[in-house]
Amino acid sequence: MDDKNNKNSIIRLFNVNKRYGGKLALKDITLDIEQGEFIFIAGPSRAEKSTLLRILYLAEKVSEGQILIDGMNLARISSSKLPLLRRRFGMVFQDFKLIPNRTVYENVALVLEAAGKKSSYIRKKVMQVLSTTGMKKKFKALPPTLSGGEQQRVAVARAVFGDPSIILADEPTGSLDSKSAQAVLDFLMEYHKKEATVLIASHNLHLLESTVRGKNIEIRDGIIKRTAML
Ligand SMILES: Nc1ncnc2c1ncn2[C@@H]1O[C@H](COP(=O)(O)OP(=O)(O)O)[C@@H](O)[C@H]1O
Ligand SMILES: [Mg+2]
Repeated sequence: MDDKNNKNSIIRLFNVNKRYGGKLALKDITLDIEQGEFIFIAGPSRAEKSTLLRILYLAEKVSEGQILIDGMNLARISSSKLPLLRRRFGMVFQDFKLIPNRTVYENVALVLEAAGKKSSYIRKKVMQVLSTTGMKKKFKALPPTLSGGEQQRVAVARAVFGDPSIILADEPTGSLDSKSAQAVLDFLMEYHKKEATVLIASHNLHLLESTVRGKNIEIRDGIIKRTAML
């Protein structure tokens, strides 16, 4: 199965550039992400890690280059199909993006409500995921009343909630102490073991040391500098 043509790629980027105005943010990114991979995107602040994750989440369009999702060229997928496609992704945003006037419970439940699941099923599942992320007691709280670390754990719970095949996590431990950070990392690792493809972007290289086997992509100034197996 090592044959190049036989790989189970779910996302492929070919010579992708991303510009913001006149500034070239991502430069000639070529990347092949296979189903079930664990990928750690490392790089200093402003390396464009978040830009890369937003591109992978299909939240922003590339300026040049191609994206293939399951072998389909994104340029040929109608934009009305994007929300459906995005449901396969779980994203932990660096700034959480929780809905401020919805409770913790509602923020997490929304994912499956949008997918039309039964409310009894959703209720059980929300409480399960909040329990694993240590946020069960706060299920009625509104995000602005929570600490940064608590909001981050809700964001992680929400990202994994619909059992997405691809989890994109942008600095998912940035607001956590080292013990909670390890817990979140272990939690994401469980989804990786359950076949999800997991991408974590972080400037914190300590996280790498506690990560199991996977791929490390080093990015700097919007360029992939190095790819190594962990
Ligand atoms: N919408 C935008 N318009 C203009 N510049 C942007 C936009 N989004 C991000 N950037 C720029 O991208 C650079 C950093 O990218 P970012 O992906 O946040 O880095 P990292 O996540 O590695 O810290 C910054 O210089 C930031 O100003
Ligand atoms: Mg970032």
